Amino acid sequence: MLQSFGIGLAGLGNVGAGVFKHLTQNRALLRERLGVELNVRKIAVRNVSKERGIAVAPELLTTEWQDLLADPAISIIVELMGRKEESLRLILGAIERGKIVVTGNKALLAEHGREIFEAATRHKIPVFFEAAVAGGIPIIKSIREAFIGNHIESIHGIINGTSNYILTQMVETGASFNEALAEAQAAGYAEADPAFDVNGWDAAHKAIILASLAYGFWIPIDKIFVEGIEHITANDICFARKLGYTIKLLGIIKASTSGEIEVRVHPTLIPEKHVLASVSGVFNALAVHGDVVGDTLFYGRGAGQDPTASAVIADIAEAAAALQSPRSNYGFMPHGLYGTCTPLDKIVSEYYLRVLVEDRPGVMAQIAGTLGGLNIGISSIFQPEGTEGEAVQLILVIHKATHGQMSEALAQIGTLNCVKQPPRMIRVENFA
Ligand code: HSE
Repeated sequence: MLQSFGIGLAGLGNVGAGVFKHLTQNRALLRERLGVELNVRKIAVRNVSKERGIAVAPELLTTEWQDLLADPAISIIVELMGRKEESLRLILGAIERGKIVVTGNKALLAEHGREIFEAATRHKIPVFFEAAVAGGIPIIKSIREAFIGNHIESIHGIINGTSNYILTQMVETGASFNEALAEAQAAGYAEADPAFDVNGWDAAHKAIILASLAYGFWIPIDKIFVEGIEHITANDICFARKLGYTIKLLGIIKASTSGEIEVRVHPTLIPEKHVLASVSGVFNALAVHGDVVGDTLFYGRGAGQDPTASAVIADIAEAAAALQSPRSNYGFMPHGLYGTCTPLDKIVSEYYLRVLVEDRPGVMAQIAGTLGGLNIGISSIFQPEGTEGEAVQLILVIHKATHGQMSEALAQIGTLNCVKQPPRMIRVENFA
């Protein structure tokens, strides 16, 4: 007679239904590999009569997530409700009752990770969260386990599939941002409300989780820099290509030699030859550099029912292993080797600057003079041919400068008479 572990599933949306389906379909495989039975005992849903395209015995369903906590035969709670307050109450309630937690709730972890893992450590109950970052790519387990002997020097990630699909469409078809967004929605990739996908915050939540895991402290949400892709134009894509770059929404996490951490998410010009430049459509990819392992690369689907279900099931298996043999790592191991973030104004980057200017002598000198006055060096400059007398775009690539220096430069350039629109700036990453 095999040992059996009871699972309480909170949420039976797209991912929850995938988890239930694959736990059922691959039950024999999991039994052979784990040496235990996994039994879904209860599923909390909002609407018991909703059609979900899977066969679920009606007696498993409840509309009260509290029922999962109350069932003593449930030892693993899988939180896939994706809510804020209720999800937090469920997770903390599970930890207090000694039930291991599996969650994919990235926004909740990014905002309440510290509180959740303080409770987990206090009660010695693991919380697993592979599905919270990059869907089917096993990046959490890799950072937590495979790279345990490394200082993580940097992580560069394409960690939002919707924005990557939009930027890919803009590059491949010359579409505008709005046209590409409409295509992403028609293809079912972008949510009806795609705000978090395009404004950078979905990727930012994932970047906070990755950085916190890599550096052993919960990165405060106000210490990261976040910018979306809404202002990228077909012209930017075209000018970037002329310079040998493509544009990606990148999550960038770096540790300085003094141990300060920077976390930022923004559209980024990356060299067309870099491996991340070839990651197109809805795919995600992460380049992780560790001081021992060197360069590594992860690629896969960051969203969707099956890839995300695969990650959740891996966590359930991890939970089953932890139930059999208790461990001292509860999913996140805090430590004091790092602990401070680089102030946003001090973060250094390279930049692409697009300025709409009057086409008359002396304009280029005025812009260059403003930058020079702030000790900002220009590495290249070009002006696409325009019609004499009309406003033209001026494209500059800036050597390394701080966010603070560039904010001042944008403010000063914006006040010049020859400048016809607020200048646009996109960061450049050369992976040097
Ligand atoms: N909406 C996200 C994306 C997937 O487009 O990558 C879930 O995090």
